Amino acid sequence: MKKIKISSRLKKLPPYLFAEIDREKHYLEKRGVSLIDLSIGDPDITVSKRAIDILYKSAKIKENQKYALDKGKLNLRRAIRRWINKRFRVQLDEEKEVLPLIGSKEGLVHFPLGFVNKDEYIIIPSPSYPGYRGAAILAEAKIYEVELREENQFLPDLDKIPLTIRNKAKMIYVNYPNNPTTALAPKQFLEKLVKFCVKYGIIIAYDNAYSEIYFDQRPLSILEIKGAKEIALEFHSFSKTFCMTGFRIGWACGNKKLVEGLLKVKTNIDSGIFGAIQECARFCLEKEGNFVRDLRKIIRERRDLFVEGLRENNWRKVYADATFYVWAKLPKRFKSSIEFTKYLLKERRIVATPGVGFGKCGEGFIRFSLTVDKQKLIKALALLKNRLILTI
Ligand SMILES: Cc1ncc(COP(=O)(O)O)c(C=O)c1O
Repeated sequence: MKKIKISSRLKKLPPYLFAEIDREKHYLEKRGVSLIDLSIGDPDITVSKRAIDILYKSAKIKENQKYALDKGKLNLRRAIRRWINKRFRVQLDEEKEVLPLIGSKEGLVHFPLGFVNKDEYIIIPSPSYPGYRGAAILAEAKIYEVELREENQFLPDLDKIPLTIRNKAKMIYVNYPNNPTTALAPKQFLEKLVKFCVKYGIIIAYDNAYSEIYFDQRPLSILEIKGAKEIALEFHSFSKTFCMTGFRIGWACGNKKLVEGLLKVKTNIDSGIFGAIQECARFCLEKEGNFVRDLRKIIRERRDLFVEGLRENNWRKVYADATFYVWAKLPKRFKSSIEFTKYLLKERRIVATPGVGFGKCGEGFIRFSLTVDKQKLIKALALLKNRLILTI
């Protein structure tokens, strides 16, 4: 038999950086060592009982048990249109400008297939959510990385993008509130971004998955910016806002042509979202405003506790402006984020994510996730607080 060969696309997908860390984690867990896992972006908080009741009731309806071969239920698209309008004062046409997704990742990754040709450029921030890189590789696009630097408030410096790239780029991924750096994007930056992208004909894939996980400043939608609808598609997620990571539902909204193209890609790949999940998501948008408020309060308390604890323990550069992450500079004596992550796991029983996993410019940082309760965070702080760390 001929040997099975993987495609060049698959070959190009980056190796799984955390394999060794995962192996060590499973090894320790198997031996009964209890670890505090601050690595995952999956909230420990559960969906409200009311929402689960809707899911259960809707699952019993025959129509919901069949293929959902459409662009999402009208009542869900309408709820999205109303929610966006209430939250951002943006008007959308629920027929042409809103598209439910099987989670925002699904849409973000499929999006270039509709608009970027082989060897055209996609601009991707470094560090950033790894899904963007995978999307570009699967679309056989070229990647141009823009750096998100601490000294630039973790915003990309658009002026530094060479003219040749500006002219050749078809798409840019932008994500604020930002995973992993926690930064927010000020309005001035978004205005500059829209002007830049309109001028050079670059489609903006604006990832707003964390729009509701904020503390002081309310994050903006790119669609609030004049001219954005000419060029942008914004992605939202129920995963973070309503703690529905396993449900797999999100949406895209914005420019009609972009919605249409993504829908065409999707109709060739998937067969819609389980109707009962769509009903549950609609219910959350319409009735679960208090859930989101309470979630923000819980995350804020965790953030305050954890950041204060780190600072008391001599961590100097700690960022936690939005999202449920803490982005912290490594203690000086550690040369790489992988080395530090291994050390935390072996010596402190804490699982965290090395910054380099988000791209080259994430090196020098570590990401902690606030997706465990305060008791566990207090325990983690106690584990971190000892001589070795204090000597940094
Ligand atoms: C920045 C960002 N965008 C998108 C996603 C994907 O979210 P989902 O597919 O669950 O909606 C994540 C998940 O961690 C994320 O961090």
